[in-house]
Order: sequence, then C-alpha cells, then structure tokens
Amino acid sequence: MSIDWDAAYRNGEVFWDRGAPSPPLRHYLERNPTSGRALVPGCGRGHEVALAAELGFDATGLDIAPTGLAEARTLYPRLADRFVLGNLFDPPAALHGAFDVVLEHTCMSALPPALRPDYRRGIDLLLKPGGLLVGVWYINPDLEPGDEGPPFPLPVPALTELFADGYEIVADYVPEVGFARREGRERVRVLRRVLRERGGLI
Ligand SMILES: C[S@@+](CC[C@H](N)C(=O)[O-])C[C@H]1O[C@@H](n2cnc3c(N)ncnc32)[C@H](O)[C@@H]1O
Repeated sequence: MSIDWDAAYRNGEVFWDRGAPSPPLRHYLERNPTSGRALVPGCGRGHEVALAAELGFDATGLDIAPTGLAEARTLYPRLADRFVLGNLFDPPAALHGAFDVVLEHTCMSALPPALRPDYRRGIDLLLKPGGLLVGVWYINPDLEPGDEGPPFPLPVPALTELFADGYEIVADYVPEVGFARREGRERVRVLRRVLRERGGLI
C-alpha cells in the first residue's frame, strides 16, 4: 500500500489534524522536563514541533509531504527553517545521530504494519544512544468495520516487540488527557535507547 500524503494536504483531506499539539504529549513533557535537540518525524503541519520549541527544545520536524511542510511554515513562521523535507526511512545524513529526543505522534500510525521495521531503523539512525523516544502511540483507533487504516492500529505487544532490543521502557501508561474520540485509544510509552547491548554500542 502506498499513500500519497502530499495529495492529502493538497486536497485538504487532513482528517488527523486537530490544529493543536497532542494533549498527552504536552502533559508528559511538562511533567518530565528534558532538553536538547528534538525531532518530530512525520510532523505534518508542525503542531508538535511548535510544542517542543515552546518547551525549550531545539526542535526539528521531518516530513515527506512538501505541502504539509509549507502549511507548517505558514502556521509557525518563526519556526519556518525547522521544517525539513525528508523520508524517515532514509533521513538526511546531516540529521544522523543528532537528536536527544524523538517525539512520536501519529507518524507510526500512518504506516502500514509492514513498514514498522523501517520506522525503527529510521529512529535508530536519528536518535543518539541514551536518547529518549517519547511516544503517544495510537493503539486502537476508532475505525469503521472493514477499514484497515490509516490510522493503523498498533497493538501494545507489537510496540513492545518492535523495540524489544536496544530500548528500555521508562514510562508506560494510558493517558488521562487526549483529543476528543481518542480517549482511551492512545498509550504514552517512553523508550530510552540503551547505550550498550551485547558488549557494543548499538
Ligand atoms: C497522519 S499524518 C500526522 C501528522 C502529524 N504528526 C499530526 O499529528 O498532525 C502522518 C504524517 O507522516 C508523514 N509521513 C508518512 N510517511 C513518512 C516518511 N516515511 N517519512 C517522513 N514523513 C512521513 C506524512 O506526510 C504525514 O504528514
């Protein structure tokens, strides 16, 4: 399955966009202050990049959809140079190993399950060892019968398996805050990329 994300922005078919940063992400970051360079993969119109900048991160958004990024620059002109065109699966070399924190919100759920290993490899390329992957994972979206997604459901065991090697869980809960119709369907799981595994740097 191949999804034309830029066409979705060009056609204004952005059903996922709530016009504001993810409430569970804000809730977690405000209570667990951290700092450094933060990346939002699949940033779309950039609301989570704006949140990260507001909270003091050196924030970057990455997306494959030029129209989505143009809309992000219009919405957040002071952050215009923070929105980078690129593919998470083959990220720009300048961004490799550059980030202390990755902020996940509805990027993973945009991907058919077969692409999850590519998502993991992309995160591995971008996140520093010891860095944090702060995720609001869309576990159980409210789909019509027969609709496979996007958003693609991500059962908790699949999330656990994807990051079983090389990451440790530092927070994990069903958030009490959320956008309307997403309550109880998301999970905050924060993963730390471990420094060493099996005697070597991973
Ligand atoms: C469902 S939208 C979510 C956008 C934003 N995170 C939000 O919550 O509003 C998924 C986004 O991921 C982007 N995307 C999909 N595959 C990608 C890839 N391989 N690399 C970078 N961005 C990607 C799409 O262009 C789209 O903007």
